[in-house]
Amino acid sequence: MENFRKVVLCLIVIMMGIFSANCRDPVLHRVGGGRYTWAPNINFTDWSSREQFFVGDWLYFGFDKHLYNVLEVNKTSYEKCIDKGFMKNITRGGRDVFNLTEARPYYFLSGRGYCFKGMKVEILVHNYQAPPAVPIVVHKTSAADISRNIQLELIATALVWTFLFKYI
Ligand SMILES: *[C@@H]1O[C@H](CO)[C@@H](O)[C@H](O)[C@H]1NC(C)=O
Ligand SMILES: *[C@@H]1O[C@H](CO)[C@@H](O)[C@H](O)[C@H]1NC(C)=O
Ligand SMILES: *[C@@H]1O[C@H](CO)[C@@H](O)[C@H](O)[C@H]1NC(C)=O
Ligand SMILES: *[C@@H]1O[C@H](CO)[C@@H](O)[C@H](O)[C@H]1NC(C)=O
Repeated sequence: MENFRKVVLCLIVIMMGIFSANCRDPVLHRVGGGRYTWAPNINFTDWSSREQFFVGDWLYFGFDKHLYNVLEVNKTSYEKCIDKGFMKNITRGGRDVFNLTEARPYYFLSGRGYCFKGMKVEILVHNYQAPPAVPIVVHKTSAADISRNIQLELIATALVWTFLFKYI
């Protein structure tokens, strides 16, 4: 009975290991696409449309803090470039990160008039759902990911057999 409990516990741990291997690591999105691309005359709509944002991901704003800032605002303020009464001031040293903790639209702009020069971005954050197994293999998963998963499964199987032989 004790042995059986151990085997079951072990199986649960292994299943959890395999499950979490299919989870997605948080992604750091460099706003504008580069290291110092929180700047005027960059098309942030174009940039964000080519990114996928999920809960737990991070935004990185790289910018000249003497010129620009980063403020989280509501939709109305985003549309009208209003920097008064912002929701949150993200500005720190000019290499600033922001944790996307909720599945909702986020709106950011630079005050000091630069919003009117295009320094505003809308970020649509979704809850991550692992795509079904077969499409992953066909379209998205890299060879490295596949071999990592296979490795994990081999290790898991080996562990199960070790336990079975030892205790039963
Ligand atoms: C930015 O890019 C979007 C999508 O690519 C486009 O529809 C829009 O006209 C561009 N805006 C400017 C100001 O160039
Ligand atoms: C960032 O967000 C994720 C997901 O909500 C959370 O698990 C994590 O603790 C947050 N990290 C920090 C440093 O706030
Ligand atoms: C958005 O923020 C502005 C500035 O604080 C405020 O005047 C306005 O009422 C807000 N709009 C909504 C829909 O919350
Ligand atoms: C935002 O925070 C930074 C750093 O704390 C500060 O220097 C700046 O004045 C703040 N900006 C606004 C608009 O409150």
